[in-house]
Amino acid sequence: MLRQLRLSKFSTHHLKVTSLILILFSACSPQETLSPEERVQAQAAFESCLICHSAQEMQRGPIVDGLPAWYAKHQLEKFQSGIRGQVPKNRSEHLMGSARDRFVDPETINLLSRYIESLPPKNHRKVVRGDSEKGKLAYVSCITCHGTNGEGNTLLKSPPLNIQEDWYLLDQLRKFAKGARGYHSDDFTGQQMAAALNGLDDQTLKDLIAHIQTFQR
Ligand code: HEC
Ligand code: HEC
Repeated sequence: MLRQLRLSKFSTHHLKVTSLILILFSACSPQETLSPEERVQAQAAFESCLICHSAQEMQRGPIVDGLPAWYAKHQLEKFQSGIRGQVPKNRSEHLMGSARDRFVDPETINLLSRYIESLPPKNHRKVVRGDSEKGKLAYVSCITCHGTNGEGNTLLKSPPLNIQEDWYLLDQLRKFAKGARGYHSDDFTGQQMAAALNGLDDQTLKDLIAHIQTFQR
């Protein structure tokens, strides 16, 4: 009886360990690379995004190069379904919403997302000023979801914070804080993030970004 109990304990433990390894493995395994044909197709599709997503002067949106495919896909789906980007007075978000006719079918969304992930992240100038020591203290509450070094967490659908420009991340924090992102009743991950800010003031948001800058190249 005791032996049996021990055995079953062992197997549940064993099962837990195995599933954990499997989860970790699937979370870490690299995205399949694009075939040469897919790359050509993706480049052509991404061309229409560059009017807003390049480092050119005309840029009106963030540089998305190097974002993980799962996150890019998740956001493109939100813009496609109207969970993000359909409120005209939310100007930058609405601008991206107005581009949703460029990624209508799931195949295009998949292709674009995998292509975005394959692009090397770009260096950028840091423009936000804040107290990174204070930011480090405030960042403790972000670690569970975004990781100690802003590496993100695929299982929690929390994006990495070590890739994008600081002005964009600050802009998004401000949006979450004032209810201009994560406002849609079907935007579950957006709502989680908005709740995590829990009334932080604007100076703290800048301090947080000053700390997040230290994760970036
Ligand atoms: C008319 C300008 C415009 C075009 C065209 C456009 N975008 Fe955007 N995009 C934006 C803006 C502005 C934002 C930031 C939205 C915000 O501030 O909430 C954005 C946000 C995004 C995000 C979310 C980034 C994040 O961190 O959440 C992704 C992904 C994205 N765009 C991909 C694309 C792709 C792929 C295309 C082409 C199929 C495209 N965009 C076309 C302006 C544009
Ligand atoms: C409960 C988990 C959770 C916590 C805690 C959390 N976040 Fe997030 N965060 C998310 C999720 C999920 C998203 C993606 C939201 C979406 O899908 O639109 C996100 C998005 C963001 C974004 C937008 C990134 C982009 O590319 O648009 C920033 C910036 C951010 N979080 C910073 C923070 C900071 C700073 C803290 C701590 C004060 C924090 N988060 C705490 C889960 C969390």
